Amino acid sequence: MLLTTFLALATATLTSAIGVSITPHDRYSSSVGVLGCHIDTNRVAYWPMAVDCNNTCVRVSYGDRSVHLLRIDQSGGAYDISYDAWNYLYTGSSATTNPVACGGIWMDYETTTAENCVSLIRTPSQKLPLSAANSMNYVAICLGQQNSWVAQNHELRNILDPTCTRGYDEICSLNMNVSNQPSCLHLLGVPAALTGKPVIDVLYPTGHQVVAP
Ligand SMILES: *[C@@H]1O[C@H](CO)[C@@H](O)[C@H](O)[C@H]1NC(C)=O
Ligand SMILES: *[C@@H]1O[C@H](CO)[C@@H](O)[C@H](O)[C@H]1NC(C)=O
Repeated sequence: MLLTTFLALATATLTSAIGVSITPHDRYSSSVGVLGCHIDTNRVAYWPMAVDCNNTCVRVSYGDRSVHLLRIDQSGGAYDISYDAWNYLYTGSSATTNPVACGGIWMDYETTTAENCVSLIRTPSQKLPLSAANSMNYVAICLGQQNSWVAQNHELRNILDPTCTRGYDEICSLNMNVSNQPSCLHLLGVPAALTGKPVIDVLYPTGHQVVAP
């Protein structure tokens, strides 16, 4: 017990946590097209920096609580995190049971190895689910960095939007030698209504859960 505490303290002092004012974010989005119906959208970080191919996982801490978050969207300048994650860090409770309203809270964050966020990915392959029709710029950049985490740990699905309202939930393949367009069972990028894969947003400040538009 004592040893564990000592190790935890030693680890904490070795890492380079950065203090920032963290604000709650209540509508799921992803600038690189991560499909919200296949990840835990209550554990997402929206940082001012562009999303890259290696640094997709951050740990945010407040007091003795911490969470891992997928950094898959770029904010306009704020350090936003999913409302539920923010509420949990601040109060110890989910925003769905004990929602709190308040401005930015000073918290610590650090970029951590992507493996720490794999449990937030809900695909059977545990690979980052990306839109086959709309993530190709990002995918091409990451494939250009062949050792990057995203290059080696993504899958493409024939869903058009991060909130999973259009397309087909099927895995596509990509062979850049043949084409720079993924190949899917249905035609790529057809905006068919996709039902049964809702993304649930937890609204600020009520904590009400609604299907994302
Ligand atoms: C990403 O991480 C991989 C594996 O650790 C490393 O080889 C590569 O150089 C990194 N790329 C960048 C751009 O940091
Ligand atoms: C693509 O072409 C390169 C170079 O010819 C080859 O090494 C690689 O195996 C090919 N990839 C696929 C998926 O066919």
